[in-house]
Amino acid sequence: MRLAVNVDHFATLREARRAGEPEPVLIALLAEQAGAEGIVCHLRSDRRHIKERDLRLLRQTIKTKLNLEMAATADMLKVALEVKPDVVSLVPERPAELTTEGGLNVVAGRRGLAAFIPKLLKAGIRVSIFIDPDKSQILAASELGVPLVEINTGPYAELKPGRRRDKALEEVRRAAEFGLDRGLEEVHAGHGLDYVNVAPVLDIPHISELSIGFSIVARSATVGVGRAVREMVRLLRRRR
Ligand code: PXP
Repeated sequence: MRLAVNVDHFATLREARRAGEPEPVLIALLAEQAGAEGIVCHLRSDRRHIKERDLRLLRQTIKTKLNLEMAATADMLKVALEVKPDVVSLVPERPAELTTEGGLNVVAGRRGLAAFIPKLLKAGIRVSIFIDPDKSQILAASELGVPLVEINTGPYAELKPGRRRDKALEEVRRAAEFGLDRGLEEVHAGHGLDYVNVAPVLDIPHISELSIGFSIVARSATVGVGRAVREMVRLLRRRR
């Protein structure tokens, strides 16, 4: 199972102060050094965290795969064709949402996507669609000729261990299996995964990559606090 690290919320932290740190590009390089096999960022239409500058620098610097999450809009298509990430992940986007709220409705948006996706594929960009674990959505995605889908693990991740969560996990498993049966090259998964709830997902053999962001940001701040404070205390003591 490969890990792709989503660096959006390191940029959210930077934007909380409109400061120069943390630098998402440096975070991405450190994530790669720690074993991440891909870097993900979501360029939102409001540019609330990741900026085009980040995307361009990530393209120039990272050594693994760059996965650009974006809405299927004309503006974003222009950016993607210029920057040429390795993968574009198509996601739905609602301006007021805190985070992506669910999978893209491929069934309803089939016609628009059928015109949009070939432009990315023709440019040599692999295309993934973020979808809910629903057979009709996966069928529609596979019919659009994309090599990848990312199954939304959000509904699973929101539940506490128990029968309902087992059922949600089984839906993810079945969706992933169905995707490979339908000829997709790979099935990925992500959203809401953390250091505890990730374990059962690892037992799904049909999933080859997980996209994880927020829990890694939260964990970085938590495990890093001791070192960060010790470094500042040491600086302060040196002055007396
Ligand atoms: N996959 C997609 C399509 C997402 O939009 C996000 C959130 O940006 C993630 C994965 C990562 O989710 P989380 O930040 O909850 O780990």
